[in-house]
Amino acid sequence: MKQTLLLLTLLLALPLMGQSERQTIRSGELWPDNNGTHINAHGGGILKYGDTFYWYGEHKSDHTSNALVGVTCYASTDLLNWRYCGVALSVSDERGSDIERGCVLERPKVIFNPLTKKFCMWFHLELKGRGYNAARYGVAVSDRPEGPFRFLYSQRANAGTWPVEFGEKELATVDTLNAANFKEQWTPAWLKAVGEGLFVKRDFGTGQMSRDMTLYVDDDGKAYHIFSSEENLTLHIAELTGDYLHHTGRYTRVAPAGHNEAPAIFKHEGTYWMITSGCTGWAPNEARMFSAPSIWGPWTQHPNPCRGPKADLTFGGQSTFILTTDNGRRTTDNGQQTTDGGQRSVNNPQYIFMADIWRPQHPSDARYIWLPIEFEGGKPVVRWRDEWKPFSVKNT
Ligand code: GAL
Repeated sequence: MKQTLLLLTLLLALPLMGQSERQTIRSGELWPDNNGTHINAHGGGILKYGDTFYWYGEHKSDHTSNALVGVTCYASTDLLNWRYCGVALSVSDERGSDIERGCVLERPKVIFNPLTKKFCMWFHLELKGRGYNAARYGVAVSDRPEGPFRFLYSQRANAGTWPVEFGEKELATVDTLNAANFKEQWTPAWLKAVGEGLFVKRDFGTGQMSRDMTLYVDDDGKAYHIFSSEENLTLHIAELTGDYLHHTGRYTRVAPAGHNEAPAIFKHEGTYWMITSGCTGWAPNEARMFSAPSIWGPWTQHPNPCRGPKADLTFGGQSTFILTTDNGRRTTDNGQQTTDGGQRSVNNPQYIFMADIWRPQHPSDARYIWLPIEFEGGKPVVRWRDEWKPFSVKNT
């Protein structure tokens, strides 16, 4: 009798044991949190603080992609098993608030500021009921990684300032551009004008558009906001102030008129690598890759880094973040962003490419792609793997 009872208990406990300890990352599958619920943190990013990884992302509902809840937060020490920490930034019930429930709040990223000891969240914001017309970024701040974050403000970017590379010649050219002269878009002449700053000029007074985005903290503690601007035609990299809460006004354009979204960035042996997507809404497309010797450029385009089934469609996903972590030791000194600021170079680093497989008909069922970045001939490669273990893959 005793034995039967023991066996029964074991049999009942087995599925639970299987659920709580995840051993590998399986991209595209359901990813249950500690409560057994599929992780709801889309378009997200990760901050390492102390020994813990914090995953922030968009909470998606079952029937709409609009924000009905806000930004969620999950915590993990092994990147496999995630504990739900609740809503880090909540949408507002106040009518007319920038982040009113029903707004579009996408691609949140959080960085830690070592001077103010604050956690700083930036995200893409579209005002409620205005489609994707507002094209703003929003900023929120918290004393603790899991929140609650306090919303500070939202606006367009860098009003009244030109990109750093605009010298006398570029300013003279931009002076001749006028959006009203282009009856037809997507012509070679129009694309040339966009490349020369047609939209930068149009939005000079009100500020530059700011949609898909990420944040990056460099080794020296300087932080940057990287976002799709100019009607999603050109990426901007904008320097942040020392408190990580504002732009300084210094910014550069990447791949003018190149039509890039979903920027994700990392630095390997002094070279900055950025992976982006094309602009096809929720539908997947072929990833693009760029590199530069400095965050300020010049940025060079490379072929698609993805390899394997559906590599021409980013495996059905769209980039959101690249996590830099130590491949083996998990100590405070070897994380992505260290507590004294900066994405400190680590020995034997591992870079994890993160992407979203969107499900616009059932947004909360969107899936995650996490794959290790390897190097081939000195260039990053993202190879599909059905399953793999973090901290176990060599990148060379
Ligand atoms: C995608 C973008 C997503 C979301 C979507 C809306 O291109 O990357 O973050 O904005 O469009 O259609």
